[in-house]
Amino acid sequence: MDYILNRRSVREFDLTKKISLADLKLLCKYAEAAPSARNQRGREYIIVDDQDVINKLATVSKGSMVLSRCNTLIAVIGKPLESLATPHMLTQDLACAVENILLKATEMGYGSCYIGINPLEERIVSCDEILGVTGGAHTFALIALGYCNKKEFYDKDKFDEGVLHYNRY
Ligand SMILES: Cc1cc2nc3c(=O)[nH]c(=O)nc-3n(C[C@H](O)[C@H](O)[C@H](O)COP(=O)(O)O)c2cc1C
Repeated sequence: MDYILNRRSVREFDLTKKISLADLKLLCKYAEAAPSARNQRGREYIIVDDQDVINKLATVSKGSMVLSRCNTLIAVIGKPLESLATPHMLTQDLACAVENILLKATEMGYGSCYIGINPLEERIVSCDEILGVTGGAHTFALIALGYCNKKEFYDKDKFDEGVLHYNRY
């Protein structure tokens, strides 16, 4: 399976099984392999499998309600801006890490779904409070993770030649 072309957002998980801590750590290792501006790697990760915490995070936005149907997530956290060499690039660095987790999870056969938090201030404040993120660090995104029954994740080609330009827009 081509796991890049076949990745898709999964919102229904098999709650009778849980991803092992070893695999969750491996996903974070792959996240850290992502590029970052000046290699600043201003990222941290919170592995969450406490159902009370997950249920609280599920109330942060309409889009986060999917979390109430999963038993594991990884919160991607941005380090304090003042600690970074190129702070204005942190958002891009964090998004690269999220994508690596989504792709590696797909390759490993797990379902995943990106839950957007940054840049919406209200969501950031809520997640930081629920997860105890302090000291100038902030929640960037949540990634719902788990076992899912689908083997083939995607069956349609999203690529449209119309998005391509040559030499000039
Ligand atoms: C920045 C961002 C924020 C997203 N936020 C949510 C969300 O809050 N809830 C959700 O269910 N899906 C969320 N998604 C997943 C998108 O809905 C999904 O990627 C899109 O519909 C395309 O479907 P696919 O991932 O299956 O290809 C988000 C995706 C991105 C990139």
